[in-house]
Amino acid sequence: MKVLVVGSGGREHSLCWAIAASPLCDQLYCAPGNAGIAADAECVDIGAEDLDGLIKFIQDKEIEFVVVGPEAPLILGLVDRLDALGIKSFGPTAAAAILEGSKGFMKDFCAKQGIPTASYRRFSEPEAAKTWVRKQGAPIVIKADGLAAGKGVTVATDINEALSAIDAAMVDGQFGDAGAELVVEAFMQGEEASFFALCDGESALPLLSAQDHKAVFDGDKGPNTGGMGAYAPAPVMTEAMTETVMETIINPTVAGMKAEGRPYKGVLYAGLMITDEGPQLIEYNVRFGDPECQVLMTLLMSDILVALIAAADGVLDSFDLRWRDEAALSVVMASNGYPGSYEKGTEIRSLEQAGSDNTVIFHAGTARDSEDRLVAIGGRVLNVTGFGPDVQSAQTAAYAAVDRIDWPGGFCRRDIGWRAVAREKH
Ligand code: AMP
Ligand code: GLY
Repeated sequence: MKVLVVGSGGREHSLCWAIAASPLCDQLYCAPGNAGIAADAECVDIGAEDLDGLIKFIQDKEIEFVVVGPEAPLILGLVDRLDALGIKSFGPTAAAAILEGSKGFMKDFCAKQGIPTASYRRFSEPEAAKTWVRKQGAPIVIKADGLAAGKGVTVATDINEALSAIDAAMVDGQFGDAGAELVVEAFMQGEEASFFALCDGESALPLLSAQDHKAVFDGDKGPNTGGMGAYAPAPVMTEAMTETVMETIINPTVAGMKAEGRPYKGVLYAGLMITDEGPQLIEYNVRFGDPECQVLMTLLMSDILVALIAAADGVLDSFDLRWRDEAALSVVMASNGYPGSYEKGTEIRSLEQAGSDNTVIFHAGTARDSEDRLVAIGGRVLNVTGFGPDVQSAQTAAYAAVDRIDWPGGFCRRDIGWRAVAREKH
């Protein structure tokens, strides 16, 4: 089978790494890919949002299966165009990807289906939003309706912060069209988890759950990022909790989307808050988490390509996956300055010697310069992933490899997995 993976991050590197190991895969391409992905797939210089370019390449090469990594091409309708051409793919159509594309849609949908999530209101006028926020008081959460590169959410601890967030989105246009509408919702307290399920339009198959670290600095301090590290499995997601999430959140979503004529195919990523009242949905994403995907792919024993095809073919109900009975933990190494502005082109040395038998190093934002040196070209650059019998040993393996990487231009958090490691010590 000829397979194309769309995207260029650490998530796509881990998908390529796993798909390349499938006996079903004869030839693997990645568009646009990165310097690390080039070891597992043939990288082609077409952007993930260049739908015309992708379609032309897919037709020219007679690609038989397309795996879409990031949300943007899904929301733009890449899968719809492939469907129209009869080309099989993994990912939701635009009508289903709206679960991530519009937070207002997602909240209205949950309300209709009785899916547990924070109480909310939608606004398209700043004054009405401000009046509501003053009446509710803080803490309160302000969310841009559309895609805002992970920056559209403000968890406001006082009213002024909430009012400023409303102005930034609606008056100053900080997120462009994505912030023209807002969702204002109640603050939820609890432990977060990233829950993943493969969906085929009719049924859903839960994957391992993970935990992500969104804040940039140790101790979960500083501004939010796309994710500074993740580990799986998440101890908070016991078997009973997974069952509750499937029954109260995932299955009603799959059934509701089908009933609305928007059958959901692909991976459904539920951001959960585990509260005293049970699991509540924070948000939906219509793709794998990054860096959560990297730990899932490290732990998966089954053939990922077969699973993705089963989701596309609508035969997931007769399907099962096997996981290593271990933990994996991925540390994100980012360019100094991230998530603010950072220098591009800093050299990364000694990466070849950094790995070990219990690590996999995925590339997120790397390239080769004109002298074939490995350089950083993004905010998040490397995902150093360790595994072992528990989170503590996975963490030790990952940081040992981090310490062997010679990259003065980068940094990482030193406490990825702290919650699980503290639990293991008890
Ligand atoms: P999102 O982009 O919707 O995942 O939001 C980013 C982060 O904001 C989440 O990972 C949570 O930490 C936090 N957050 C979002 N909504 C709420 C809420 N209603 N209550 C508390 N924290 C929230
Ligand atoms: N790691 C968070 C995300 O992928 O959105």
